[in-house]
Amino acid sequence: MKKLGLHEIREEFLNFFKEKDHLVTSSFSLVPKNDKSLLLINAGMAPLKPYFMGTEEPPKRRMANCQKCLRTGDIDNVGKTSRHGTFFEMLGNFSFGDYFKKEAIEWAWEFMTERMEVSPDILWASVYEEDDEAYDIWKDVIKMPEEKIVRLGKDDNFWELEVGPCGPCSEIYIDRGEEHGCDSEDCKPGCDDCERFVEVWNLVFSQYDKDEQGNYNTLPNPNIDTGMGIERMAVVSQQVNNIFEIEPIVSILKAVEEASNVKYGSNDKNDMSLRVITDHLRAMTFLVSDGILPSNEGRGYVLRRLIRRAARHGKLLGITDNFLYKLVPVVIDLWKGVYPETKEKQEQIQKIIRIEEEKFQETIDQGINILKDYIDIIKNEGKTELAGEKAFKLYDTYGFPLDLTKEILEEEGLTVDEESFNHEMEQQRERARKAREEGSNSVWNSSSYNLTNLNSTEFEGYESLTSSSRVVSIIKEDNKVDRLGEDEEGIVILDKTPFYAESGGQIGDKGIFINNFCEAKVTDTKKESGNIFLHFVSVNKGQIKVGDTIETIVDRKQRINTARNHSVTHILHKALKEVLGEHVNQAGSLVMPERLRFDFTHFEALKEDELRVVEEKVNTVILEGLDVKTIETSLEEAKKLGAEALFDEKYGSNVRVVMVGEYSKELCGGTHIKNSSNIGLFKIISESGIASGVRRIEAITGEYVYEYMNNMEEQINDVAGILKTNKNDLLNKAQSITEETKSLEKEIDKLKSKLAMTQLDDIVNDIRDVDGVNVISKVVEGMDANGLRQLGDKIKDSMDSILLVLGTVSNGKVNLVAMCTKDLVSKGIHSGKIIKEVSKITGGGGGGRPDMAQAGGKDPGKLEEALNKVENLVKEQMK
Ligand code: ALA
Repeated sequence: MKKLGLHEIREEFLNFFKEKDHLVTSSFSLVPKNDKSLLLINAGMAPLKPYFMGTEEPPKRRMANCQKCLRTGDIDNVGKTSRHGTFFEMLGNFSFGDYFKKEAIEWAWEFMTERMEVSPDILWASVYEEDDEAYDIWKDVIKMPEEKIVRLGKDDNFWELEVGPCGPCSEIYIDRGEEHGCDSEDCKPGCDDCERFVEVWNLVFSQYDKDEQGNYNTLPNPNIDTGMGIERMAVVSQQVNNIFEIEPIVSILKAVEEASNVKYGSNDKNDMSLRVITDHLRAMTFLVSDGILPSNEGRGYVLRRLIRRAARHGKLLGITDNFLYKLVPVVIDLWKGVYPETKEKQEQIQKIIRIEEEKFQETIDQGINILKDYIDIIKNEGKTELAGEKAFKLYDTYGFPLDLTKEILEEEGLTVDEESFNHEMEQQRERARKAREEGSNSVWNSSSYNLTNLNSTEFEGYESLTSSSRVVSIIKEDNKVDRLGEDEEGIVILDKTPFYAESGGQIGDKGIFINNFCEAKVTDTKKESGNIFLHFVSVNKGQIKVGDTIETIVDRKQRINTARNHSVTHILHKALKEVLGEHVNQAGSLVMPERLRFDFTHFEALKEDELRVVEEKVNTVILEGLDVKTIETSLEEAKKLGAEALFDEKYGSNVRVVMVGEYSKELCGGTHIKNSSNIGLFKIISESGIASGVRRIEAITGEYVYEYMNNMEEQINDVAGILKTNKNDLLNKAQSITEETKSLEKEIDKLKSKLAMTQLDDIVNDIRDVDGVNVISKVVEGMDANGLRQLGDKIKDSMDSILLVLGTVSNGKVNLVAMCTKDLVSKGIHSGKIIKEVSKITGGGGGGRPDMAQAGGKDPGKLEEALNKVENLVKEQMK
């Protein structure tokens, strides 16, 4: 067998299939596009699903690629064994209704035996137990001895994801030799007890599309989907024991050894940590390079877990500093030849990982201490399981990932109640969902009325704001009716309309319907699946009937203001990418006439100067007067143009691209102004965080900026009026007033203490002898706690022997101080105990040393009574 590195195997494979007339494409992003069923790409076929299902035409019926994949099913096992990993690359050749089983098997055999030069003697195959066709190809065409063709059941030889293309499969195994085997006589592919037979290539005969209900629907064409784990192939080719020993992964491991000063192979625990870090480093580098940011949800959470788990294992190895981000360049340098984008984004990737390490550092110490307390409690109670609510609190309040909690507990022989943890999590989600729902004012419940018998509404609103349309259907209170009378409200559906229906963040149009018999107000427009436009209408005059022809008129002013805000979100999106980095992606938006809201991925609050630069850039584009053009083209063509597409948006094969000059290109169905200068002006009103890793900018344009400026000016004028100056001198005036206030405050403080001192004589005259102790207990006016104490010190210092208990009321609260000279302390007086009793009466508490104590209270009305108690307290202490 040829001894090849990972990169060489990849090249051999792709070249081989290129020679077999396959179109070789580069890897898709780890982030699935238009596929809500998947968090992260986990197989080579995943990004190609539309080609398998026949919903999109592939660029060629034979394709091959090397796809970045991530599987998170067994994150907790990664590192524990040397078999598991999260990130991997999958080599695959695909046929979309072109060749089928025979070619797939023949070519796999040819590649293995002739290109990889694997001896046929050590190759085995498995087939699905009912798949005689595949069995016969191995037997008759390949001439594999029958004892080496194994029939396996659905668990092993039927390949499927949750939903989507799937089918029976045939797997190719390499026999690594008896020394890797178990004692079982029957040891063969599929053996669970040993690692003698390594599965290197899975050939899936994709014939079905599994739907959400679990039905297997036959696909229009039988397809081929294959997957070869490049890392496994490298293990066999390089004749090493596991993926952590293959070139180039072993180079990451070595860098981790160096950073931690721990050698691999010296002890099991350390080996586990070294493997965890090695695997997770590669995964996090690729996740961040594909635009994912750490967060508490979805893919962001996967990334967060990986970074935090690796960081913690760094600690276990004795690494005290943040170190992951320093090792990122090691990964990048090893893979940049295949994935040049990682090199381009290196600085950004390092920064994002460093910030997450820092955040973790802040929370981990706190979290670990709390968890330690929990552990003590559980152990003391003789239990072995941590309550789910506690684990959830650690997660929710301290950002402590569940798997970390689990891992730490496991080290102590304990577990966590995951069911109740999940329950807490579910409840939190529910709360969030409710909050979202309450925030949206949707009145239309789409399930309440069946629209399937209607044709799509023709939308004419890109070119025109009016139309002459026919009323196709009317709905009133969820029922189909044939007319809407005066003062009635309902939903009107037309054959064609210029009214834009709410979508892509842009709100629906308002306007009027009119003809000789009626006049109605359109208050909103929404869209149902099947592209049916719903006009929410209230009739002012006459009646609207099904079959009528009416003139429709969109509210022009609202439409233009909305268009300004929509076009500017495109410019803003681009400007944010330029200023902050390519990781910025639209996460949501709301475009309405008065303002716009733009949510985007970014890991920290924007700094003042970043916001200013963004705002400036947007305004520059506006002032340049760039033409805004739209073209309709294929999705492929749009991607070639470099048009921005949204992750979660579902696009058809024909798309609309909106271009602001050459500055911004985005797939978008919204309505836009014709030239950037029509936006007028752009002003950011606020920037805030709405979820971990997601920021929100709110902004205004056009006449609303003008209004905003006028309001500002008015406010400035008002302030100037109040300060009795004109607006040009406002700054000076404000400064001088602040200075004046400061000096007045100082003056007041001085006067206050003067006032206190004038009370001094009064106070001193009130001296009483209680069982041989000089006692003063008295209410003092106009002082805060500090002043009271200073006054006390002054009196005490001027006397040889005294116990002072002073009280004052400031801001409705009671302050008390008690102090005495040393001689009284030795006689048995304790100021702290005295004040404790006194303050109790005023509804407060406090205490202190024998010679000095302070306290507060809530009930000023009780102050006199409290101070009267001092005499008795002294008597008691002197007993
Ligand atoms: N899709 C198949 C797999 O992932 C090839 O194994």
